[in-house]
Amino acid sequence: MYAIDVGYRHIDTAWFYKNEEEIGDALKDTFSKGKIKREDLFIVTKLWNNFHERKSVVPKLKESLKFLRLDYVDLFLIHWPFGFKENSGDLPQDESSFSEVDYLETWKGMEECVDLGLARSIGLSNFNEEQTERVLQNCRIRPVVNQVEVNPNINQKKLIQFCKERDIIVTGFCPLGRLGTVNSAYPQSTVLDPKVVEMASKYNKSPAQIILRYLISLGISVIPKSVTKSRILENFQIFDFALDAEDTAYLDTCNKNQRVSPMATYKDHKYYPF
Ligand SMILES: NC(=O)c1ccc[n+]([C@@H]2O[C@H](COP(=O)([O-])OP(=O)(O)OC[C@H]3O[C@@H](n4cnc5c(N)ncnc54)[C@H](OP(=O)(O)O)[C@@H]3O)[C@@H](O)[C@H]2O)c1
Repeated sequence: MYAIDVGYRHIDTAWFYKNEEEIGDALKDTFSKGKIKREDLFIVTKLWNNFHERKSVVPKLKESLKFLRLDYVDLFLIHWPFGFKENSGDLPQDESSFSEVDYLETWKGMEECVDLGLARSIGLSNFNEEQTERVLQNCRIRPVVNQVEVNPNINQKKLIQFCKERDIIVTGFCPLGRLGTVNSAYPQSTVLDPKVVEMASKYNKSPAQIILRYLISLGISVIPKSVTKSRILENFQIFDFALDAEDTAYLDTCNKNQRVSPMATYKDHKYYPF
């Protein structure tokens, strides 16, 4: 696994991505070479929306662990606060497929995963402030992470501060604004902003590195995705420079609260977060 060879230790996956088996194979191969041990990695997976009933949570994590060929994950997240009926497909299109299961019920199943040693820690993804607070007020085991979209178009400063005050770490997904995916509904990635391109030559870095460096300066972790070896390496080489105040201030002005991942099909769901 090239990413591990160049230094990545955080692996983000999900039942929904259908790549857990592939990752499991790559992990087996990596461990068999003996350089990296299981405890050197931080492996994250997520519970998909069809499985929010308490009784489904442990079995679904066990299924993910089987795919991943692991005994435990370091972090298990509720992928979205809203649920779907179990047999309605991964991304159902009509409201009759929405499930009313409260994510507080789901959270009890998540806590059982920790009790059983299947997850070292548990957390949330795509939860807003109110939903996060509701979990905190009703939990036995606290969420340690909220994984949400963070890039300069939606810098989430308010949510990051809210989470920080509650000892919750924010992981930023789509940090590059899903650059390269053709969808005219997406806001243009700031990686393509001419000012960012100019900054890149000033620091002798790439535009993507400028953006990733900006994001980690917000006090979050980031999970850029690439299938390209040179970019996997490039996205890791961001710890040897810092942006000056003027460039940081410019990137702050890019915030428009526009998402590439609004999941707007579900905007009428009772637990839709945005
Ligand atoms: N929790 C959630 O609901 C949720 C939702 C979405 C995503 N995620 C997580 O976040 C991760 C990243 O999100 P994402 O893949 O949607 O968006 P992203 O990381 O913002 O963008 C990925 C795109 O950027 C390209 N890219 C990567 N590095 C680059 C570089 N240095 N220069 C130029 N282009 C570059 C990639 O191309 P190539 O691959 O062709 O190199 C790919 O097309 C996902 O893998 C997933 O783990 C979580």
